[in-house]
Amino acid sequence: MFRINSRPYLLLTNAVRFLFTRKLSSSSYIADFQSLIGKQNVLTTDLDPFNQDWLKSHCGRSDVVLLPRQTTDVSNILRYCNQNDLKCVVQSGNTSLVCGATPWQNEIIISMKKMNQIISFDEITGVLHCESGCILQNLEEFVQQKQRLIPYDLGAKGSCMIGGNLATNAGGLRFIKFGPLHSNVLGLEIVMANGEILDLMSSMRKDNTGYHLRHLFIGSEGTLGIITKVSILCPKDFKCKKVFLFSLENFNKLIELFQMIQEDFSENLSCFEMIDESSMKAVVDNLNVSFPLSSKSYPFYSLFELSSNDESSLDQRFAKHYEKLVKKSIILDGTYANDSDGEKFRKLKSYRETITEGLRIDGYSYKYDISLPMNVYYEVVNVMRKRLSSSTSNFVRICGYGHMGDGNMHFNVTSRQFDQQILNLIEPFLYEYVAKYNGSISAEHGIGVKKRKFLHYSKNDEAIKLMQQMKRMFDPKSILNPHVLF
Ligand code: FAD
Ligand code: MLT
Ligand code: ZN
Repeated sequence: MFRINSRPYLLLTNAVRFLFTRKLSSSSYIADFQSLIGKQNVLTTDLDPFNQDWLKSHCGRSDVVLLPRQTTDVSNILRYCNQNDLKCVVQSGNTSLVCGATPWQNEIIISMKKMNQIISFDEITGVLHCESGCILQNLEEFVQQKQRLIPYDLGAKGSCMIGGNLATNAGGLRFIKFGPLHSNVLGLEIVMANGEILDLMSSMRKDNTGYHLRHLFIGSEGTLGIITKVSILCPKDFKCKKVFLFSLENFNKLIELFQMIQEDFSENLSCFEMIDESSMKAVVDNLNVSFPLSSKSYPFYSLFELSSNDESSLDQRFAKHYEKLVKKSIILDGTYANDSDGEKFRKLKSYRETITEGLRIDGYSYKYDISLPMNVYYEVVNVMRKRLSSSTSNFVRICGYGHMGDGNMHFNVTSRQFDQQILNLIEPFLYEYVAKYNGSISAEHGIGVKKRKFLHYSKNDEAIKLMQQMKRMFDPKSILNPHVLF
């Protein structure tokens, strides 16, 4: 007899579990999937783009990608996976920066890209109903024709999808104006791990009938269910938007600028971003563009946007404000563009939006996405720069940029190839630093697979235990994103 917990017993149960989870050969389940959702919606070749994460930091080994076209397909897939104990990973635009959307091992990939229909739009309330595989930029273009906005905006908008955005509770550039997705998402349709369809769709802004279940799925990183439909409130677009790019001598001036802008334009402020010199150089060095403002770089830049329905009054107020900035020597140089300027407006914004791509071209990105109080917001970059520079590590760049208006710093290091020594210098030191100031180790990208070891720096034991209990309740066999979060 084997004693419970003895090593031989464990070896045997692991072997049984392995056999059980492998009881279907991939060819038999592939044939079943083909009959469930149609042969053309089951891919088994050329899967690299689905297995590889955006940062090219990990490549999974999945041998099948499923492409559901409707909610019932997702339901049939999950029911089958749950019955047969097959692990899956949900993928939308595959722009996750924490390896959340690609298989860690050989999980089945469920790609949402064929579920991309706009279902309805209410012209009076601005409520949009759509499937979760709609690409953010397509939704933005659709609602712009109705003089509305999607209440968030990411540099990844050309690829990321609304379901992925909700699953990660994406932040981005408009957060300062419209707040988190929790404030704008009115309803969701979810397929649960056992295949049941949970209809939480609504167009109502107010509803206090019990627990706010939809909020549980926002930011759950695909661990509790698959989002198949969304209802989101799209605010009225503004008649004019102006983007400003200013250069500054040091970070203290940037704080002063932020305070002055908030004082005079709090109702107009729709994004306030910071870019340090090293981040700007990543764009200029790698993306074949010239420095903005002059032929040289500056220590810091601020990119912010003001929106209004009264352009001439905004212009007059800003002219006065600009005089104050010059008198107080806050800025070194600056420029701006109106959204009606088209190309210039897009180009100025792209200095901020393309930093991620610029850094990726360096080689390997060590990417951090933290929240910190303003008094140490940039200090963390200085501390890390000192730490890494005093070592013999071969980094290419150390930089900081981010959504300063939301206290969210993107601290990044790059090297030509992955270097364990650099990683060891950053982690867990950086997380300890963040925890010391009660910050967050993930302000917007989520935990994914990459940060799961470090969750405890931002969540206490009781909170983690409760989250694990919830996971077990929603997905007892842990078939959904089994390597994400925990
Ligand atoms: P994926 O990467 O495909 O998936 C992300 C996670 O959600 C995975 O865990 C996945 O399993 C899960 N998931 C996907 N779809 C569903 C679904 N339908 N139901 C349930 N779970 C699902 N993030 C920000 O927050 N702010 C930014 O400003 C920002 N800028 C970025 C800029 C660039 C250039 C890049 C590459 C990334 C950026 N990101 C940003 C990170 C990323 O774009 C976001 O996390 C985004 O929300 C992911 O959307 P996606 O459609 O690509 O989802
Ligand atoms: C951004 O704000 O640019 C994104 O979150 C991506 C990144 O951190 O690089
Ligand atoms: Zn960001």
